[in-house]
Amino acid sequence: MLADLALPLLRCLDPETAHRLTVRALSAGLGPSTGGWVPDARLGQSLFGLRFPHPVGIAAGFDKDAEAFAGALKLGAAFVEVGTMTPRPQPGNPRPRLFRLPEDGAVINRNGFNNSGLEAGAARLARRDRTQGIVGANVGANKGVETPESDYAAGVRATAPLADYITINVSSPNTPGLRDLQAPGPLRELLRAAKAARKDVTGETGPAILLKIAPDLDDAQLEGIVGVVLDEGIDGMIVSNTTIARPASLKGASKGETGGLSGAPLFEPSTAILAKTYRLTGGKLPLIGVGGIDSGAAAYTKIKAGASLVQLYTALIYKGPGLVRRIAEELGTLLERDGCSSVTEVIGVEAGATP
Ligand code: FNR
Repeated sequence: MLADLALPLLRCLDPETAHRLTVRALSAGLGPSTGGWVPDARLGQSLFGLRFPHPVGIAAGFDKDAEAFAGALKLGAAFVEVGTMTPRPQPGNPRPRLFRLPEDGAVINRNGFNNSGLEAGAARLARRDRTQGIVGANVGANKGVETPESDYAAGVRATAPLADYITINVSSPNTPGLRDLQAPGPLRELLRAAKAARKDVTGETGPAILLKIAPDLDDAQLEGIVGVVLDEGIDGMIVSNTTIARPASLKGASKGETGGLSGAPLFEPSTAILAKTYRLTGGKLPLIGVGGIDSGAAAYTKIKAGASLVQLYTALIYKGPGLVRRIAEELGTLLERDGCSSVTEVIGVEAGATP
């Protein structure tokens, strides 16, 4: 694809400029289109009251300001998660804050929720054609706020009428104190505030609310989170965000940079915590698996570990935008090989066997 040919050029630029150009091109309608492509019917699934044509979506952070989701859907993504958006616009951390580790198929980012704020993002979402595809809104808290739960409630209020689902992001490592909101007490308060905000705006019929968690949690922490999620009637979980761990295998010159690591080295730890989450929820809660997916085989492994849907971001940087559709096509081939008539037959089948 032409867009994949542009990759070597983009890689000559600093990563943030390359990303900005990609978002601009997609928002200007210059991206490639998979128009007319019909995914394998076995990949389709209904979840959260939505019909997903296949399980592969684009993760939060790619389209922070809801500028490029229409172009991203045209690439063949089943869904795009915009954000993280915070109530007030904020610049994020000083640059450079995004680093490629090409030898590792990874990146480290410490962006710190740079975004143009909820009002601007919501205005763009309000103009969208809802028949073009599924768009989720990922919401967070501004840096340094004293009552983060009010920021999340504001995020839910602004996006509930506009988004197909809402993600509560308490797992980015680049906003001080944010991940502490994963502790049971603050989490319960936050999720109650989010649900109350949704009820205020859309009554009982609003979009699903999902919680996105970090991969850097021990068993007791994960059990605490899952307990609160099930108690509070949250609709699903996204597993996982970037990691603050630095595997010894990393080779990239930027491996010592502070921030969240994503891409290939995140695949194993994020799949392990996904499988644990599946086991703890007894398979009853839809999970979105994310972290290091770069092929149909990797997406299939996530689904077998317990994911109903998957998302990716980092591999797009290295393999180009054609990857989304390729992964969906490869998933169809894998289902065919295994004699499955629906992707739902394989969700979680290996959750017990995943370490
Ligand atoms: C992210 N990610 C992210 N997640 C989130 O919930 N809100 C955000 O604003 C961002 N921002 C962001 C920026 C950059 C540059 C990257 C690489 C990642 C995390 C992302 O959604 C995903 O959870 C992880 O990157 C793991 O998936 P991949 O990248 O390994 O496929």
